[in-house]
Amino acid sequence: MTDDTDPIVAASALVRGHLVSLSIRAAVELGVFDAFLPGSGTPTGPDSYAAVPLHTLAARLTLEPRQLARLLTVLVDLGLVTNPEPGADQEAEPSPPAYEITAVGVTFVDGHPSRLRDLVLMRTERSVLDSWQRLDAALRTDAAVFETVNGVDYWTFLAQHPNQETRFNGAMARRGIEQAEALGAAGALDGTRTLVDVGGGEGALVSELLRRHPDLKGVVADRPEVTTAATEAFFGQCLADRAYAAPADFFVELPSGADAYVLSNVLHDWDDGDCRRILRTVRAAMEPGARLWVVERLLDAERSDDARLDLHLLDLHMLVLFGARERTRAEYGALLLATGFTDLSVATGPAWDVIGARAG
Ligand SMILES: C[S@@+](CC[C@H](N)C(=O)[O-])C[C@H]1O[C@@H](n2cnc3c(N)ncnc32)[C@H](O)[C@@H]1O
Repeated sequence: MTDDTDPIVAASALVRGHLVSLSIRAAVELGVFDAFLPGSGTPTGPDSYAAVPLHTLAARLTLEPRQLARLLTVLVDLGLVTNPEPGADQEAEPSPPAYEITAVGVTFVDGHPSRLRDLVLMRTERSVLDSWQRLDAALRTDAAVFETVNGVDYWTFLAQHPNQETRFNGAMARRGIEQAEALGAAGALDGTRTLVDVGGGEGALVSELLRRHPDLKGVVADRPEVTTAATEAFFGQCLADRAYAAPADFFVELPSGADAYVLSNVLHDWDDGDCRRILRTVRAAMEPGARLWVVERLLDAERSDDARLDLHLLDLHMLVLFGARERTRAEYGALLLATGFTDLSVATGPAWDVIGARAG
């Protein structure tokens, strides 16, 4: 906000966030973004999409054109769709309105590698929105209001709702490339032959690391609801000779004896007591000298304004869902030192930060 922005205009713009995400959710659920795709296939970019007349889109979506136009108007305002002006030929019949999807809109098409449609669906699930209604209570109690509102903790809820489980895992899997780059920059793969990604979801990070390091072998250890998808992904990407998924509870026991263990975006889901329990289970699986790499976004690392806002909102999201938090490098360091790790190092990066530690 610049100094001369009208404060009321600026404040009004801030309170419409949920209307924006719920409009995008509706467009995803109705199939609006997919309706621009000419046939079946993987979306590659806006060039593969021609302008589509409103009545064609409406027919593809079995929606009333006037109703669809209302949603498209908002998508135009958001820059997800454009409404190109018809040519200025005065003689010609006026052409019916047509719409084109933009490069930003394409990221919400089914099958797009960004998995952003999973993200918007995951963030706007009723269970999540109902829990965010209780942010004030969460701030008073420092407790996971998700469980109070929905009757079970988030992971149990996902296990009971396979659609939401799939969306959650898809939304997580979108970060595999960024996280692999952060680990590479931190030197985590130097001399590593075997790696266990603890809470590694669908295996996007392991797959990416294996593609970059042909001699590396990888294991994903995660809840059984997720490991089936990870196994399918490894077979689908012809990596099953070097990777497998192990159902595991990181509060109980993990695959042992690897050179390196990764906890990527896991500890921020848990309060300090649970983090120490997880770290002790990881430590118990490690031989002395093996390395642990914690991939998170540190509250005290350099960030763009936009990325900082994202992280601070995620801190509240962690509170609402789990009674958990984002942390500074000192806070992660204290957890690691308290659970038998030594030789800490920190490598900050544009998207992810990495804390390295040795099993003492
Ligand atoms: C926020 S996701 C992070 C996924 C992935 N590491 C990433 O960075 O995208 C947390 C992961 O922890 C897993 N998880 C939660 N509770 C677990 C448990 N008790 N044992 C093993 N994994 C668990 C979840 O299934 C999920 O895949």
